[in-house]
Amino acid sequence: MSVTTFRTSPAGEVDYGAARVERGIAETIKKITVPWLLQRKLLHHPISAVTAYDYASARLVDEAGLDLLLVGDSLAMVMQGYENTLPVTMEEMLLYVRGVRRGVRRALLVADMPYGSYHVDERDGVANALRFVKEAGAEAVKVEGGLTRCSLVRRLTSAEIPVMGHIGLTPQSVHRMGGYKVQGKTVNAMEQLRADALALEAAGCFSIVLEGVPRELAQLITKDLTIPTIGIGAGPDCDGQILVLHDMMTMTFAPAAKFVRRYADLSGAMRQGLVDYKRDVEARTFPSDEESYHLSRETQELLAVKHGDEL
Ligand code: KIV
Repeated sequence: MSVTTFRTSPAGEVDYGAARVERGIAETIKKITVPWLLQRKLLHHPISAVTAYDYASARLVDEAGLDLLLVGDSLAMVMQGYENTLPVTMEEMLLYVRGVRRGVRRALLVADMPYGSYHVDERDGVANALRFVKEAGAEAVKVEGGLTRCSLVRRLTSAEIPVMGHIGLTPQSVHRMGGYKVQGKTVNAMEQLRADALALEAAGCFSIVLEGVPRELAQLITKDLTIPTIGIGAGPDCDGQILVLHDMMTMTFAPAAKFVRRYADLSGAMRQGLVDYKRDVEARTFPSDEESYHLSRETQELLAVKHGDEL
């Protein structure tokens, strides 16, 4: 058992109680919406985004005041231990998105469409995206790919589902790319990616993730578009940044990529905590008497009369 609750004001504003006071987060926190993110580009106010996959970390992300939370298919690697993002299924993604939904009040919640959920035909793509919205509470979906995805993006937006594009190093194309390699390094490849970005904007995307591309290209695309670019391994000139939570918090088991900044060492803290716990259990110093429940004095006395010699 563990007790977690949200308090919401009658006006629907989120009150984070102690977390708000301790961490200095604004008293009442307005909901982040798709139109609001578009405004942020106009105001040159960077958008902060991160991935999360479960209730507790989603709630921490939300309470820290980040703008956008993506339930990325990167969960196949960091939560499920697969080698790449390809195996994760719709049903599995839905399960993770539902958990995250319960932890998020303020941030925009985006669900990543997994490999195979929109590649066979567009009807499937729309039906699967609708499931994320209807069954899991996502407010937008993300799809990988450029010009080839434009028709799907149009169908999704006409079904009232906001769409985030994703171009450059698209992990679902790992086999075509021959590994995770920086994209857009030649003039031709740059022009192709600029055309992809413009086409996705014209098709109705509200934002585009630029992953694993040279800074110079990300800067050009960011200038080309009226919708915000969110970079990961794309340099500092994008309209926002996103990182995989497990990378930035050191919850991974391999050296970080060049673009990852480690903001905490959670695996180090967890390893130490687990070693300390094992030591305490083995030394019988956990739990202590203070960490134990007790009978009332009255019951203890009755018990002493009945079973005195056994206690
Ligand atoms: O799946 C994911 O986490 C992503 C981000 C890296 C953008 O697509």
